Amino acid sequence: MIKGFIFDLDGVITDTAELHYEAWKALADEMGWDFNREVNEKLRGISRMDSIKVIMEHNNVSLDENTIVELATKKNDLYVASLDKVTPEDYLPGARELLTHLRTEGFSVALGSASKNAEKVLQQLNATGYFDVIGDGNSVAKSKPAPDIFLYAAEKLRLPPANCIVFEDAEKGIDAAKAGGFHSVGIGPEERVGHADIRFDTMKEATLFEVKSHFKELF
Ligand code: G6P
Ligand code: MG
Repeated sequence: MIKGFIFDLDGVITDTAELHYEAWKALADEMGWDFNREVNEKLRGISRMDSIKVIMEHNNVSLDENTIVELATKKNDLYVASLDKVTPEDYLPGARELLTHLRTEGFSVALGSASKNAEKVLQQLNATGYFDVIGDGNSVAKSKPAPDIFLYAAEKLRLPPANCIVFEDAEKGIDAAKAGGFHSVGIGPEERVGHADIRFDTMKEATLFEVKSHFKELF
């Protein structure tokens, strides 16, 4: 029986990918590094430190760990400042409707995000009240594709993975959900999240009615 839902944040509830892009781009420009939207796509769902390493690899750059942390912090300061622009108008279409529906039907709901800024994003959206549990980049050490963040969220909800559905827009996020034994809903194109149990192009199509009809025997 499905009792709980665990949501990734960036790309599922709201689209902060562009804000991450702008902050990484500003850092890359300052460093004289190449960075574009294609490289930004590879950062979907992965941690800040993993992200800067992907960008450095793309530029064939190696630096000592302290400098890497310093640069990642610089990017984060820019990103956090840009979050002030996020408002309750910035839910991805369909996301707030689904969260509201889950509340009225009494499901348990958790966040399972790699972001250390998840609480700030939820506050900006005025979305904190939709979640019983918040799992974010501060909750576990190993990030996606490790299942740890989803296992943390499920444990806090006091539900086994088999009773939960994970919503994810990242390839590595679906990998993480599967590795943890969760049911999975992929949001995005086939080539990115085609390995999820079911897939929708956008959150708009991912209504509770649709989800229930796909996982019929589990409700
Ligand atoms: C999300 C985004 C990633 C980002 C990560 C860490 O998973 O999809 O692109 O790198 O969060 O975010 P943070 O806010 O901790 O830098
Ligand atoms: Mg995401």
